[in-house]
Amino acid sequence: MKNKIDEIRELFETDLAAAGDAEQVEALRIKYLGRNGLVTGLTRGIKDIDPADRPAFGKMINVLNKTVKTAIQEKQNGQAGGKSVDSIDLTLPGRKPRVGGLHPLSQIREEIKQIFGRMGFAIVDGPEIETDYLNFEALNIPKLHPARDMQDTLYISEELVLRTHTSPVQIRTMQNRKPPIRVIAPGRVYRRDTPDASHSPFFHQIEGLCVDENISLGDLKAILAAFTREMFGEGTRIRFRPSYFPFTEPSAEMDMWWESSKGGRWLELCGCGMVHPKVLENVGIDPDKYSGWAFGAGIDRIAMLKFGIDDLRLFFENDIRFLEQF
Ligand code: DAH
Repeated sequence: MKNKIDEIRELFETDLAAAGDAEQVEALRIKYLGRNGLVTGLTRGIKDIDPADRPAFGKMINVLNKTVKTAIQEKQNGQAGGKSVDSIDLTLPGRKPRVGGLHPLSQIREEIKQIFGRMGFAIVDGPEIETDYLNFEALNIPKLHPARDMQDTLYISEELVLRTHTSPVQIRTMQNRKPPIRVIAPGRVYRRDTPDASHSPFFHQIEGLCVDENISLGDLKAILAAFTREMFGEGTRIRFRPSYFPFTEPSAEMDMWWESSKGGRWLELCGCGMVHPKVLENVGIDPDKYSGWAFGAGIDRIAMLKFGIDDLRLFFENDIRFLEQF
């Protein structure tokens, strides 16, 4: 028996050395480990051995079996992965890994944050589910006031709404910090709107707030002018025209002159104004000592202008062919 095992081992070693390609190694595997293979035959034969000798021979056969298996496997692996350096064509172009990128709206948001960051503004944040008080009442929009119609919204309960603008972050900030305050608050807002090219039930705004002693409308104009020119270019023309918001007095709308293939026109860029004295009172800031300005701009709007996109919905469909262009 022992002789037979040794014989097969030696035969295998010779065969293994001779097997050159994958096909020959496979043939080798069948010859030794296949259903009628030599090693398989040995294993099957164990039951015919004298029970007293079985453990010893069994062990030897097992060792041989393992040796053959490992040797074949190693040879197969070597053939698959072991190409020599000469066979790699170093002149072939590399395979480019697909890398992710920031969503265009995130890119614009980051750019806005950086511009205001350079002007000394801190970034603050507020929840998207907001209290009726902070979203409306503290901003001088009482219940049943017609100004609420401008922001027809999605209520969660009597007292909770999906915030309709980032303006409640003004209140949160002034409740927690005392002047001087210089902050911006980017975020998502919600309104009961049917989606079309320029409407969406959710979109993005950025709020700005500055409160200190001796703050004037001139400061607001200077900061917004600086922002617009950084964002859209040195020569950008802007204008302010009177408007109405319950939480600012006076209120204004800032427009930017926009040239396109269809000609030039004024485009509304953001609402702004001097923080209403009542709003300051609501957060315990003395309106006789302090004054402030605020603005709210649409991030999606700015991104559409910057990238020349004419349909807001493209931002939210997440079609990779669209997103990849940025
Ligand atoms: N919250 C206003 C809106 O969503 C925009 C706005 C107007 C914000 C004037 C302001 C502001 O901070 O001063 O329509």
